[in-house]
Amino acid sequence: MNRLGRKLRVAFIGTGGIAHSHMKAYRIFDDVEVAGGADLIPGRARAFFDEFELADAAGYTDYREMLRDLRPDCVSICTYNRQHAGPAIYCLDHGYNVLLEKPFTVTLDEAVEVRRAEKKSGRILSIGFQPRFDPNMQMIKKIFESGELGKIYYIQTGGGRRHGIPTGGGKKDSFIRNDTAGVGALGDIGCYSLDMVLNALGYPKPLTVTGYKSDFFGKDPKYHGDHPELAEKFGVDDFAAAFIRLEGGVILDFRISWAMHMDTSGDTIVLGTKGGLRIPSTECWNGSVGGPMKIYHEVAGAQVETELPVLPLTGLSRVERKVRSFLDASAACLAGDSSAKAPVPTSQIIINQVIIDGIARSADLGREVEINIPEI
Ligand SMILES: NC(=O)c1ccc[n+]([C@@H]2O[C@H](COP(=O)([O-])OP(=O)(O)OC[C@H]3O[C@@H](n4cnc5c(N)ncnc54)[C@H](O)[C@@H]3O)[C@@H](O)[C@H]2O)c1
Repeated sequence: MNRLGRKLRVAFIGTGGIAHSHMKAYRIFDDVEVAGGADLIPGRARAFFDEFELADAAGYTDYREMLRDLRPDCVSICTYNRQHAGPAIYCLDHGYNVLLEKPFTVTLDEAVEVRRAEKKSGRILSIGFQPRFDPNMQMIKKIFESGELGKIYYIQTGGGRRHGIPTGGGKKDSFIRNDTAGVGALGDIGCYSLDMVLNALGYPKPLTVTGYKSDFFGKDPKYHGDHPELAEKFGVDDFAAAFIRLEGGVILDFRISWAMHMDTSGDTIVLGTKGGLRIPSTECWNGSVGGPMKIYHEVAGAQVETELPVLPLTGLSRVERKVRSFLDASAACLAGDSSAKAPVPTSQIIINQVIIDGIARSADLGREVEINIPEI
């Protein structure tokens, strides 16, 4: 049982793909009661609850009406990217704790508005970055903080898929349309690679960004197989790259791809004055490690490599941990604990978002842009 000593009433906004993983996680915790949810598509929320044999959970199309009727304690916002900010602000303004899927928002302006609402509300807002709960990601942060690498001055990160535009085999277009997704690979999987290294670095502020993005594959009907019509709908990036200067003299060299003629855009490499770290890329980038990490350093003048075995995840899965940590923080907040904190806080993720926004702006303008984070 949580700190409140009663079940937490949970509701959903958006009951598509990722809502299923949230639901599977909620279902394993006995201090959760799923009250219901809303999806814009008529009948979709009802079908979702039926799939999980939750006859008492109520389905709606309008999330405002749903919240008015159900008065949940916690809300999972599982809508497409362009519908992150509006529902999040509404929930916070009305006193609900929120687990918001990634990427935080599409634009920096939206992220700022959500942060303002969060600050006013005193509620929990956590962003759905499950890689944070991976022991290997946590090890990267420990290595950075140990001083083993000395002063870190250059990081190359990102991730690549050779053939991985997320359309669910042609059945789904919410990730590729500008009016639903707003951002492509850059926000979808780029947010994870940025978080992996920025979280380890303690989220220094970015100073300038030079960004590039392209859509050669998404716009090509040949690339969509039996669904050439998706090329017409494609309105986001399928590849992005950037050169980012961070406070403290760190350079971040970044590239991300949903599609390219290459097997991988490279491992993450971290260069420090005392050591270097190689984090092998996964074939389909999902915020995990593709093999043992290696530290390159010198011992008594000899060049030495130390291999770190991949750490297994035992017990709860990454998504279950993301959901559990959100429930615990929400219970603490509702119990009146003023020190209750979001497990993946927007104070950090706004920096992730300002970089994504900066890359998109720089790419559109064709030049470097300065980064300013507004006071909130
Ligand atoms: N953390 C992860 O591993 C992970 C994995 C997949 C997707 N995601 C993120 O989750 C979000 C949703 O992705 P998905 O695959 O579930 O998309 P999806 O298109 O399958 O589902 C989104 C659903 O939200 C509904 N919706 C949109 N706006 C709404 C509104 N205002 N009110 C009610 N319903 C609304 C849509 O009708 C749709 O059913 C995206 O932002 C995506 O980046 C995260």
